[in-house]
Amino acid sequence: MKVITLVTQKGGSGKTTLCVSLAVAAQEAGHTVCILEMDRQATATQWAQARKGEPPEVAQVAADRIETTLEKVRGGEFDYVFIDTPGIDSPGTNAAIRHSDLCMIPCRPTPADLRAIGPTLATIHRLEKQFAFVLNQTPPKSYRVRDTAEGLKVMGLLAEVNIVMRNDHQDAMGTGQGVTEMNPAGPAATEIRSLWSWIENRTKEPIRVEAA
Ligand SMILES: Nc1ncnc2c1ncn2[C@@H]1O[C@H](COP(=O)(O)OP(=O)(O)OP(=O)(O)O)[C@@H](O)[C@H]1O
Ligand SMILES: [Mg+2]
Repeated sequence: MKVITLVTQKGGSGKTTLCVSLAVAAQEAGHTVCILEMDRQATATQWAQARKGEPPEVAQVAADRIETTLEKVRGGEFDYVFIDTPGIDSPGTNAAIRHSDLCMIPCRPTPADLRAIGPTLATIHRLEKQFAFVLNQTPPKSYRVRDTAEGLKVMGLLAEVNIVMRNDHQDAMGTGQGVTEMNPAGPAATEIRSLWSWIENRTKEPIRVEAA
């Protein structure tokens, strides 16, 4: 079982959006998957309610229960557990990071997003965990994307796939679908499938912590 945690204290960067669509993409790729939601906003739980029982299962987990919950599901049916964390640095988020095989850090192409990464990254380094940034909500082409990508690469590994700002992501949250279900032939679906393949490859073998 591999644990993928979507984490950054920057609110609104796309943790939940990427979490649910990546979980669906992983499932479509043949994996058994569940989502643990640590955010009291319960966005992923509301998304699951709109799915009316269709997997992946989404379970709300209190910050002080994440370790015991992961112990329980380890060795069970799941190939991948996705953890959606709240946009705050907290002991619960730290515990999720500690038990992750890969932390994915979504970042929008803005100076504010870049600056906000520091505390999350410090925790990940302290716990010596694997991580990768993913550029999210990007314009299709812009100097901002290039500049932010350069900034991120200085701090660590950047996923090779950027996720462009597209209505499909917002609509799919509303209908309780992954973007690959809602509009399978659309560009948002293609990007999410590519990002999932990239993550799948990174988590197949033990990966090196990139020098900062
Ligand atoms: N690639 C995208 N294209 C279009 N809209 C997006 C994209 N990613 C996220 N959004 C939108 O941005 C908003 C914030 O996304 P989301 O809730 O996933 O962020 P978050 O990091 O989970 O926020 P929080 O820290 O509050 O939990 C939502 O309205 C979502 O629909
Ligand atoms: Mg969220």
